[in-house]
Amino acid sequence: MIVTTASFKGGVGKTTTAVHVAAFLQKDGDTLLVDGDPNRSATRWSKRGNGFPFKVVSEQQAAKYGRNFKHIVIDTQARPDEEDLKDLVDGCDILILPSTPDVLSLDALMQTVHLMKVLGSGQYRVLLTRVPPPPRKDGDDAREMLSAAGFPLFKGRVRELVAFQKAALEGLVVSDVGDRRAKLAWNDYVAIGREILNGKV
Ligand SMILES: Nc1ncnc2c1ncn2[C@@H]1O[C@H](COP(=O)(O)OP(=O)(O)OP(=O)(O)O)[C@@H](O)[C@H]1O
Ligand SMILES: [Mg+2]
Repeated sequence: MIVTTASFKGGVGKTTTAVHVAAFLQKDGDTLLVDGDPNRSATRWSKRGNGFPFKVVSEQQAAKYGRNFKHIVIDTQARPDEEDLKDLVDGCDILILPSTPDVLSLDALMQTVHLMKVLGSGQYRVLLTRVPPPPRKDGDDAREMLSAAGFPLFKGRVRELVAFQKAALEGLVVSDVGDRRAKLAWNDYVAIGREILNGKV
């Protein structure tokens, strides 16, 4: 399985998603995370701790290492141009488009999905990330709007939880963070990972 994360807007959870989907897939078979962002966020994240339970390489190393892995997850930089997006779609089995449930992100997401339609790709799913807790309804409202517009969405969503920031700071996967809500945080990505693996996307 080759899974790529992409978005027009920055800071919507691409790297967090790539890291945790890779951690989930690693339980199914050897998984390689390709850090395709020149900022090297995923690489730097892994180096802050004792390393991830999966291998992280740069785009330049990907061709060599890719041969030996069952799954490959590719993290990309924000704001791909149309040509980049075309290649990203062509280069994976499923493109994850994370979006936070706020107007600016959703607006950027609309542009991306429009392009995907132009490219004629069905191999993508929108993932709502950083969904705020009740009583706020941002997540539900965004889901309703996106479904009404006919966008393919993951059934699961990722909640806004500080455990994810702690994970990035400490160089860990969220399941290894000492936070009382770390398990909840990890379970959000387990559900997404299952949707990917079971082809329920
Ligand atoms: N579910 C979440 N709950 C809380 N914080 C989160 C969550 N997901 C991501 N974050 C935080 O939001 C910030 C942006 O996340 P991340 O780096 O994954 O986004 P990105 O789309 O890769 O950003 P960039 O476009 O800069 O590459 C980080 O500080 C991260 O720790
Ligand atoms: Mg990133």
